[in-house]
Amino acid sequence: MLEKNLPIVDLQGQYQRLKSEIDAAIQEVLDAGNFIQGAQVKSFSLHLARYLGSGEVIPCANGTDALQIAYMALGLKPGDEVIMPAFNYVAAAEAAALMGLKPVFADVHPGTFNLDPEKAADAITPATKAIVPVHLFGQSCDMDAIMKLAEKHGLFVIEDNAQAIGSYWKSGQYAGKKLGTIGHAGTTSFFPSKNLGCMGDGGALMCSDPQLAETIRKICNHGQSTKYRYERIGINSRLDTLQAAILEVKLRHLDHFIAARQKAAAGYDRELQGISGIEIPERDPRSGHVFHQYTIKTENREHRDRIRKHLEINGIQSMIYYPMPLHMQEGYRYLGYREDAFPVSGHLSERVLSLPMHTELDEEKIGFICQTLRKA
Ligand SMILES: Cc1ncc(COP(=O)(O)O)c(C=O)c1O
Repeated sequence: MLEKNLPIVDLQGQYQRLKSEIDAAIQEVLDAGNFIQGAQVKSFSLHLARYLGSGEVIPCANGTDALQIAYMALGLKPGDEVIMPAFNYVAAAEAAALMGLKPVFADVHPGTFNLDPEKAADAITPATKAIVPVHLFGQSCDMDAIMKLAEKHGLFVIEDNAQAIGSYWKSGQYAGKKLGTIGHAGTTSFFPSKNLGCMGDGGALMCSDPQLAETIRKICNHGQSTKYRYERIGINSRLDTLQAAILEVKLRHLDHFIAARQKAAAGYDRELQGISGIEIPERDPRSGHVFHQYTIKTENREHRDRIRKHLEINGIQSMIYYPMPLHMQEGYRYLGYREDAFPVSGHLSERVLSLPMHTELDEEKIGFICQTLRKA
């Protein structure tokens, strides 16, 4: 009989499976005592760069810092505009606003939830300097269209790849490239629940221009060129050695993690197909999908609440990513958008529901979740 406690992510389950490897990696750091900038930070960065197949990886303290560092390294100045999706986590907007840049929102595609390149094009002004395609829930934005748009207008592309590490783009000029390595810079987060997650906070930037990589490295470490020589204004944003050691272990398993998520998604697809009022997540055939989230669409807010309640009563956790588009959030009202400025984002915020998605799901659990959802 299935235990009635199905969390949206199962970090404990994954830890128990990798316990001997992770504990040994942690012990090694404890024994060496090199908690900041230990050898594991460098070797993890090199291994991740090799895994991603191009350029350099510069680790930092978290995925939000990574975005700020990218804006800084690319030389963005107060008043510059950065285009990003309205249906998104807050990080890209927050980092921009903190630097005096103007977050400019654009609507998303109703099927893939990702930035709509045509809407991004409509948002370009003479002050636009960058676009941030956020590869939401594990699937790529339309990188052919976004890179073309950026080239035409001389814009930087910063891929926010916090949710899609290991996924890739399949078409056109960038076919076969892993996400985060297509734009001028890529960023990611190693927040514990991410597909490659540590046991605290962590993040990284990716780029293939060695000079930009060097600038990023300096910014992460107080703008220092050598010890106590501050060549520019930087910040203190480092991945600590313990987290790097844990990530190095988990990176070895990342492709298996992805396969487990894809298997779970296929199970959901099979079981949820044909339930009226429920739409399973749309796949862009030009993108890989690593299922950071498995997000369904319901009929409306009431329908979603009813399903959520029924799942909860049966011990199944679900989440709403994201319940309100960024332009409607109090902290971002100063940007002056009308409530109905991004109708697709508004529509999605009322309907989306993310189901349990992690590496420890099996057919029995998926069957129970879907059966419960069908009853709701
Ligand atoms: C799309 C996206 N960007 C950025 C971040 C920020 O990452 P962090 O929490 O490591 O700062 C997240 C994390 O939740 C995210 O989902």
